[in-house]
Amino acid sequence: MPDKLIVVLGATGLQGGSVARLYASLAGWRVRGITRNPNKDSCTPLREAGVELVAGDLDDPASLDRAFEGANVVFAVTDFWQFIQLPSTHQKAAEQGREPNQVAMDLEIQQGKNIIHAAAKHLSTLQRLVVSTLSDSEKWSGGKITSNLHFDGKAKYTQYLKDNFPDLARKSSYLQMGYYLSNWKSMAGMVPKKQEDGTFVLMRSGGKHLTPYVDPPNDTGYLVKALVEVKEANTTLLGYCELISNEKYAAIWGKVLGVKVRTEVKGMEDAKAAGLPDFLIREVSESIAYVSTWGWDGGDPEVKHPKDVGVEMEKLTKVEEWIRREDWSGVL
Ligand SMILES: NC(=O)c1ccc[n+]([C@@H]2O[C@H](COP(=O)([O-])OP(=O)(O)OC[C@H]3O[C@@H](n4cnc5c(N)ncnc54)[C@H](OP(=O)(O)O)[C@@H]3O)[C@@H](O)[C@H]2O)c1
Repeated sequence: MPDKLIVVLGATGLQGGSVARLYASLAGWRVRGITRNPNKDSCTPLREAGVELVAGDLDDPASLDRAFEGANVVFAVTDFWQFIQLPSTHQKAAEQGREPNQVAMDLEIQQGKNIIHAAAKHLSTLQRLVVSTLSDSEKWSGGKITSNLHFDGKAKYTQYLKDNFPDLARKSSYLQMGYYLSNWKSMAGMVPKKQEDGTFVLMRSGGKHLTPYVDPPNDTGYLVKALVEVKEANTTLLGYCELISNEKYAAIWGKVLGVKVRTEVKGMEDAKAAGLPDFLIREVSESIAYVSTWGWDGGDPEVKHPKDVGVEMEKLTKVEEWIRREDWSGVL
């Protein structure tokens, strides 16, 4: 039997890189990783692991059509935050009298639709499309949350797939990725703060909901593999390695590092003082309000957990070991 082919979007990124590396190590699979620039240095380790790197752009439908040729499985991910960095997003927002995050959401939705349209052309070989998505915060909050657009764009194109492409939807499953353990390195507000008395404060969302912590470079591959192997498509999986309270995370952090620590509900005062624009303050504060009040998955009863869909739980990251491996010297 010839090897099956998995096409991985975002192969040079955190989520896609994990999927590409795992499948490259599995017998019976070929991996085609998609990137805008297969010649860049960060492609070398993937290529050495046996991944074929092919040029493709989520804004160029024809390139996706070519990339999906012969695919048995496609893993899809889009990146909301890159659009916030682009001057063209801010220019378009000014021209349209809208907020930059609204323009960013439109751009992310269009990329999602481009993926869906291309995948729908390859149903003769395609057995499973796994879409990295997030819950619909506007829907699950009953319209109270309207600015958590890095969640809602993904939810909207996921719904577009379900509503308009029944044959593709019969072969599709959805991964709602949890809260990255590494966020403290990319989000200034999440860096543990040392107090004058030597204790630490971790800023987190409040509420009673547990946080789905995930380590994308390791865990995404195993989460996706379960969604590929489980017989039923149309499965929505909450992607985490440990579902724990923020207080529990803080307790583990303090134990590993031998320091006293407490959590505080994250406000936006620091962000305001640091000059974060109003639209981003709304985006982040509504995101915090959403996960605090309705939970990461919004309380959607259809959402499954890793152990329910056969994820190899022992392969997922252990939060304690992850904290032990991280370099916290700059914080301590
Ligand atoms: N931080 C969190 O806690 C969290 C939680 C859940 C979900 N998320 C979501 O995760 C997403 C980002 O995923 P990630 O962390 O895997 O991203 P990442 O590590 O930043 O990598 C982004 C990937 O997207 C690819 N890409 C970007 N634009 C592209 C385009 N036009 N055409 C083709 N490929 C393109 C890049 O490929 P090239 O540059 O090589 O072309 C790269 O591989 C965001 O949308 C975010 O909302 C984040």
